[in-house]
Amino acid sequence: MTDFLLACNWKLFCSPLQERAMLANLPEPKVPTIIFPSLLSLGSKHPGYQFGAQRMDLIDQGAHTGAIGAYALAELCEWVLLGHSECRARGDNKIAEKAHQARSLGLKVMLCVSSQELDTPNVDAVAYEPLWAIGTGKVATPELIAEAIAGIRSQVSQGTKLLYGGSVTPANIASIAQNADGALVGSASASLEGLQKLFTALTG
Ligand code: PGA
Repeated sequence: MTDFLLACNWKLFCSPLQERAMLANLPEPKVPTIIFPSLLSLGSKHPGYQFGAQRMDLIDQGAHTGAIGAYALAELCEWVLLGHSECRARGDNKIAEKAHQARSLGLKVMLCVSSQELDTPNVDAVAYEPLWAIGTGKVATPELIAEAIAGIRSQVSQGTKLLYGGSVTPANIASIAQNADGALVGSASASLEGLQKLFTALTG
């Protein structure tokens, strides 16, 4: 279980000051861990952790007020999350083009999908997140997770990490680790206490 990938999507749960305080006091990671804080808190480094952006625009360097492009993110973090359903609901699109641009500038891409249909197979990780499971307390059954992960695995290259996301908590993460290479965790990861509990649940 030690190479289980823990991806923490902090969404906009915390203020930038709260996030900075958390980032300054991260516990020793017990498994490979990526933190996706708000864009406002990117840029910190912490031994053993990787960091990622929750979204990006399909944009080159230049006169684009308010935009955030891959070339800028690549200076600040290793990963970008693309296609999260909360971003898609706000009109996020051109996910395949974004993935291509992000990777060409050195970022790793974690693609979020709510079914086995991928915007592009050319990504570093895929997080399968059924819409009804996100933030609802309803976690997918082991059978559904196993089926979706197998379906996605047949479409991507070997080495692509396949994660499950949607109402993952310290109580269910060990069982999720039976069927997925990692978990994308929202609210249960957005505090130092929550993070520590997830590590403990995974490694004892
Ligand atoms: P949740 O969110 O763990 O709070 O359900 C997961 C996600 O949206 O990535």
